[in-house]
Amino acid sequence: MRKAGDAAMEQRSRVGEPVIVLEHVAKRFGKLYALKDLSLTINAGETYGFIGPNGSGKTTLIRLLVGLSRPTQGTISILGKRVPSQAVAPAIGYMTQASALYNDLTARENLEFFASIYGLRGEERRRRINEELERVELTDRASSLVAHFSGGMKQRLSLACALVHRPQVILLDEPTVGVDPELRLSFWQYFVQLNREGVTIIVSTHHLDEASRCTRLGLLRSGELLAQGAPTELLERSGKNSMEEAFLFFAHQNMPSGATEQGQVYTNTTSAQDEQEVQS
Ligand SMILES: Nc1ncnc2c1ncn2[C@@H]1O[C@H](COP(=O)(O)OP(=O)(O)OP(=O)(O)O)[C@@H](O)[C@H]1O
Ligand SMILES: [Mg+2]
Repeated sequence: MRKAGDAAMEQRSRVGEPVIVLEHVAKRFGKLYALKDLSLTINAGETYGFIGPNGSGKTTLIRLLVGLSRPTQGTISILGKRVPSQAVAPAIGYMTQASALYNDLTARENLEFFASIYGLRGEERRRRINEELERVELTDRASSLVAHFSGGMKQRLSLACALVHRPQVILLDEPTVGVDPELRLSFWQYFVQLNREGVTIIVSTHHLDEASRCTRLGLLRSGELLAQGAPTELLERSGKNSMEEAFLFFAHQNMPSGATEQGQVYTNTTSAQDEQEVQS
């Protein structure tokens, strides 16, 4: 790990300071509102988890935060800068839901590629790559081609690539899919350690045991934030014993009269072309 006193660490946000601010964010694809009027603030040192069924808008939201896509309405700022912003990009680490790795490179070459993009050079680059390989238990496979990796190994390497430049804000889209339980636990221990250093983590997950490890959760359904709060607070507010039951409680509470579970399409909007997306 980087030593205390390192210059880059000193520039990090202080725990509790607002890092991500969304104001009335909506995202429309043609007639479909993937996100509807989302306003929320995420503070430094939090692990904020988004949970919600398939198609509820988690990936759409994360892509907006990374700056790969622009909101149809509303504003997003990260570290005080309106997104998308070139100034903010180096402070962000992003792990996509689908693998962004190069199959024809080795694990170490993939890490070298991502580290170089973020300007790491020489001894620091070598040290960070070795630290991350160790962290995800791939040191002995560093010279293997990614094409020969198992799904879980690819997932571990993707996490290492997202974190190699020590970003202040980490966006992880279902980072532990296919990762075995022991390593999943060690990922989460690492997240806690990063939080203590002031790193802010935004994570989407379908694992409700992981959700309960987040400092706060946002429950998304059909592009709407049904509720947010600390996991224990959500359980208390719903009077339920499990996050599944709590989710259903808030979903039912927010169900507009006459709406169906699949009621994501706004039939009164005029037809529009999908927005031009920035290619990832
Ligand atoms: N580029 C796009 N063009 C059109 N529709 C899109 C596009 N991207 C996402 N959508 C739609 O937006 C909605 C939200 O999708 P999104 O990928 O954000 O869901 P998700 O919560 O990440 O789901 P999952 O749990 O399956 O990963 C879906 O109905 C999806 O079909
Ligand atoms: Mg998704």
